[in-house]
Amino acid sequence: MISENLIQDLNIELTEVKNKNDLMNVKSKFLGKKGPIVKLTSELKSLTIEEKKIRGTEINRIKSQIELLINKKLNEIENEEINKKLNSDRIDITLPGKASSFGSVHPLTQILDEIIDIFEGYGFQTVEGPEIETNFYNFEALNIPKDHPARDMQDTFYLEDDVLLRTHTSPMQIRIMENNQPPIKIISPGKVYRCDSDVTHTPMFHQVEGLLVDKDISFANLKSILNNFCHDFFQKDINIRFRPSYFPFTEPSAELDIEWENKNGEKKWMEVLGCGLVNPKVFDFVNYDAKNYSGFAFGMGIERLAMIKLGITDIRYFYQNDIKFLKQF
Ligand code: PHE
Repeated sequence: MISENLIQDLNIELTEVKNKNDLMNVKSKFLGKKGPIVKLTSELKSLTIEEKKIRGTEINRIKSQIELLINKKLNEIENEEINKKLNSDRIDITLPGKASSFGSVHPLTQILDEIIDIFEGYGFQTVEGPEIETNFYNFEALNIPKDHPARDMQDTFYLEDDVLLRTHTSPMQIRIMENNQPPIKIISPGKVYRCDSDVTHTPMFHQVEGLLVDKDISFANLKSILNNFCHDFFQKDINIRFRPSYFPFTEPSAELDIEWENKNGEKKWMEVLGCGLVNPKVFDFVNYDAKNYSGFAFGMGIERLAMIKLGITDIRYFYQNDIKFLKQF
């Protein structure tokens, strides 16, 4: 019978099939428009009703058998593909792992943490404030009125008329005093901004502000705290000097220089902070009684201190994110 031959032929062809594409070709050869099943079906027309019944059932049987065989083959091919993929994707747990590289704490953060630790050891409390400031806190309340020449000391990034990126951490003196009564003993670390850029200046840098207000605070207290700080921070004998200076918000004012050695072994002085006794005019702005209270303030540049302690010659290294540089600390 034709049916037995068809199935035999199909089985032979299927043994040659290697992939889905081959299988599709075989399928369309047997079940397609020009295939034997369609042909047999079209021949039914010429038969009697009785013959049609028998022949029709026969054709349907062959057709389902062909479909069954083709689906079986399709399953085989798909299983094979999955197994292949599973084998090639298999994780070889005996291979050595990829070492992941660790980051490290940025040198400036390390130095900042050390400074905070030292001052907290002296009983100072750490507070942080906004980098976007108003004219009032950054200048006005610090006794730097509009058109005062001291504003030239700090080239300012303005965001709006009265809103700016703080040029120093000193506005935190005002923010703390206006909401708290003496005694005050705080430091305030953070970022500050000035239009300035060269080997020792970057448009953004870090300061730590210090403020102590109580009864009978004198310049001797300020000198003593800063002396102790230098000793604790550098952990070796280091020459420092106080140099008279001017800040509108302190009176008298000074700058602290630290002696360091440059690449050629020459001794140099580097200014690392400004300081002084709180100007009574500033106390007026926060309604403190200047007859009863006195205080000192200082603002230190973290980059400068880090450069001296770590022996770094160019401030810009801190911000280039060069792993080779950062890994040294
Ligand atoms: N704010 C000053 C500056 O940035 C430093 C300073 C702080 C001076 C506190 C005196 C008292 O230059």
